Amino acid sequence: MAEPAVVIVSNRGPLSFRRGEGGELVARRGAGGLVSGLAPLVIGTSTTWIAAALSEGDREAATGGLIETEGFRVRTLSLDPDDHRAAYETISNATLWFAYHGLFDLAREPVIDTAWREAWAAYRRTNAAFARAVAEEAPAGAVVLVQDLHLTLVAGTLAEVRPDLRCVHFTHTPFCRADGLRVLPTNVRLELLEGMAAHRACGFHSRRWADAFEECCRVDLGRSPNTFVAPLGPDADDLAAVVGSPASQEAHSEIDAALGGRQFVVRVDRIELSKNLLRGFQAFDDLLQRYPQWRERVVFGAYVYPSREGLEAYRRYRKDTEAIVGEVNRRWSTARWTPVLLDSTDDFPRSLAAMRRADVLLVNPISDGLNLVAMEGVLANDRNGSVVLSTGAGGWDLLGRPDAAFGVNPFDVSATADQLHRALSATPDERARRATTLHRAVSARTPSHWLADLLAAAGPPVSGASPKLGSGDGM
Ligand code: F6P
Repeated sequence: MAEPAVVIVSNRGPLSFRRGEGGELVARRGAGGLVSGLAPLVIGTSTTWIAAALSEGDREAATGGLIETEGFRVRTLSLDPDDHRAAYETISNATLWFAYHGLFDLAREPVIDTAWREAWAAYRRTNAAFARAVAEEAPAGAVVLVQDLHLTLVAGTLAEVRPDLRCVHFTHTPFCRADGLRVLPTNVRLELLEGMAAHRACGFHSRRWADAFEECCRVDLGRSPNTFVAPLGPDADDLAAVVGSPASQEAHSEIDAALGGRQFVVRVDRIELSKNLLRGFQAFDDLLQRYPQWRERVVFGAYVYPSREGLEAYRRYRKDTEAIVGEVNRRWSTARWTPVLLDSTDDFPRSLAAMRRADVLLVNPISDGLNLVAMEGVLANDRNGSVVLSTGAGGWDLLGRPDAAFGVNPFDVSATADQLHRALSATPDERARRATTLHRAVSARTPSHWLADLLAAAGPPVSGASPKLGSGDGM
């Protein structure tokens, strides 16, 4: 049977554009887990990717319609900037992200007021603009893969004008239980859940998030839509190419020389509240306090870079991160040794070099849809390094087996310190055994498996349905 035409729809696109020195538009691969996971699957194919214009360069690129470059077919969408900011920051990042990850300090937040309701209206308009673009670009009978929490209302809007399309939604974050979603006003909760339920199926990285979503739907909609579980996996070839690149090799030599034979604990994250950076540094501090044998014998490399700085909570979290690193270093540094190295450069080849050299990779999120970094770290590492992994990460379902990752409750700082100690103390035999199990578990899932699962979830074509003429109108 012929492969169906595929359209991917996401807020952040595979390419970001800027003006080059000669005034020409230059494309660069976009940032983030979603893009690095999906990009290798679509390069050189006929898949169309529709995404928001995020930079000035993206907006200029948007005027030219569909762009074919670097192996991608991309349509960047120039949205009303105020609407897009309100939808992205107030709704997606400051409300849905917080609810899904359980980050709200409920005595104070969220505050659902007039400004918030206006932001929800902007979220609706932004989703409708995406739906219009899909209606215009999607070939007849295409499968439309709608990504993440920014775009939950696209399928419902599309259904009337493009009944021929098969829409599948995939959430890259966790999902919260009904109790967590009650922070949203009832009508918004219903609109959000109905919007997601309008897809043929809703996918998640973990059964835990799919169950939570189903529970929300049962409570609010009185029914449970189709769901499926499809964890993403890293693309081993893509990763090996970056690890083998001159930039990564050079960074590896530099890092190795700076360590002077010491053990190396590494973390690679956006500076993001759900990643639990502060408790990670507290745990390292506790390790040095209670296990003095590690003083001067271990270095913590934190490759963490600013993110979502439009939000005050994230700016504050960055300052708190820098402050705690300063405190740990003041407390324990000696003339020969700085315990924590903070690198905020967002340099993927360098981060991979650090994970390659790691003795222990610390991944301790409060909650995380999957955590691709934990899986990339396993593939990049070449010294049987261990992984200390939060049970709150979706990836725990794959890596949390006996003799694989060391598990931690993300809130338990002293237990995290104990697990760091165990991981650092593992014998070469134990390291090799765990590394083999981890490798096997990570290699079991590739981006192609993930895509095949989404296409299967789209189900069979709709017989007899065809696009309505002037399909972009009236949405
Ligand atoms: O986890 C969901 C996700 O969309 C990731 O794909 C991405 O790395 C992260 O959130 C960052 O999102 P943003 O586009 O807001 O920087």
